Amino acid sequence: MNKTMSKPIIVAIDGPAGAGKSTTARRVAERLGYVYIDTGAMYRAVAHAALQRHIPLEEGAMKGLVDTISIDMRNTPSGPRTYLDGVDVTDEIRSAAVTNIVSTVAAMSGVRRSLVALQRHIGHAGGVVMDGRDIGSVVFPHAEVKVFLIADLDERIRRRTTEQRERGLALSEDDIRSQIVDRDRLDSQRADSPLTKPDDATVIDTTRLTIDEQVEKILDLVTTYRKTYDLISNFGGL
Ligand code: DC
Repeated sequence: MNKTMSKPIIVAIDGPAGAGKSTTARRVAERLGYVYIDTGAMYRAVAHAALQRHIPLEEGAMKGLVDTISIDMRNTPSGPRTYLDGVDVTDEIRSAAVTNIVSTVAAMSGVRRSLVALQRHIGHAGGVVMDGRDIGSVVFPHAEVKVFLIADLDERIRRRTTEQRERGLALSEDDIRSQIVDRDRLDSQRADSPLTKPDDATVIDTTRLTIDEQVEKILDLVTTYRKTYDLISNFGGL
């Protein structure tokens, strides 16, 4: 049997806000027949729960919260959906209120510990494309394919502005710029699992790439991995 056909792998996609992670990761998952997991949506679900239940944004209270809620990520024909205690919160977690506090929530070690455990549980058997900030560095340091997506700040702002307008939200470009700059700073400077490029990740600058081009580049990395794995397997190395 050709082992490469059957070995489901983990594709880890990290990078800053607006670098094109979710759309690209979702399409890569579709092409591979894999599950797509947007880990940012998990942090957003916790932030949403905190707002709903008026939980103070401090470690102890937030750790208590995260241990009592259930977060469920489902891939449906209409796209990935996020459930909080069985309720679909896919749209709610994109609100400005959630976006404003999510980086603070994601900086809390107690919250991260629980969500990382859940992410490992979901992805441990492979067959998953997971995007976030620490997937290749912390969640799955042994992921077979690691990608770090980057893009110029102006391009990231342009993409987020278009995305927000499509959702009917009326934030100005200046608001979006300061949101992205603030979140980049918080995500990169936090003590626990900051956004960093793992040494063994492939950097893809998406500033001038179409989504299709980004997807193809990542699928090429998967093919290269499989060929290498196949070669090693054929030599009896694995
Ligand atoms: O990708 P996003 O904008 O939906 O992410 C929401 C927040 O969660 C953002 O502040 C980064 C943080 N995050 C994280 O710390 N670790 C992850 N694996 C995914 C997201």
